Amino acid sequence: MEVKKYSSKEALSTADKVLLEEAIKSREQAYAPYSRFKVGAALLLEDGTIVKGNNQENAAYPSGLCAERVAIFAASANHPQKKMLAMAVTCRHSEKPTLTPFASCGACRQVMLEYELVQENPIRTLFYGEDGEVWEVASTKLLLPFFFDKTVLE
Ligand code: THU
Repeated sequence: MEVKKYSSKEALSTADKVLLEEAIKSREQAYAPYSRFKVGAALLLEDGTIVKGNNQENAAYPSGLCAERVAIFAASANHPQKKMLAMAVTCRHSEKPTLTPFASCGACRQVMLEYELVQENPIRTLFYGEDGEVWEVASTKLLLPFFFDKTVLE
């Protein structure tokens, strides 16, 4: 996969650093009492709006939702006409340091891809743990090369 790696968040552009800092703030507000793995996402829209999301867990485990989908669905629900340009995602485990970025789960990739295809514009993603490198992927198509999309349903 084509990933651009930055040695630290300080190596990012000012705009990306702002986006990542918003994701970090959102991460800390996650409701993750079961996994103790907090994830935050900050999604930049074409007009500069940043929509945040974090993972929301539930005692009935599958009822919870990942940070990325909370952010993407909130953006589509509240700003349906605005393109999604970039998303920063960060995670922190309460019991061990996460020093390597993680990549979004398959279900989140599928959801990101839907909006990327509809808006005909890639969504760039930045992945970060709680310290260390930042990984950048230019398009969801790179994260999910063999995808299911609406053309099969038409
Ligand atoms: N999680 C996310 O928020 N995003 C991902 O891409 C992977 C996993 C959340 C779901 C659950 O609340 C916790 O992390 C552990 O899986």
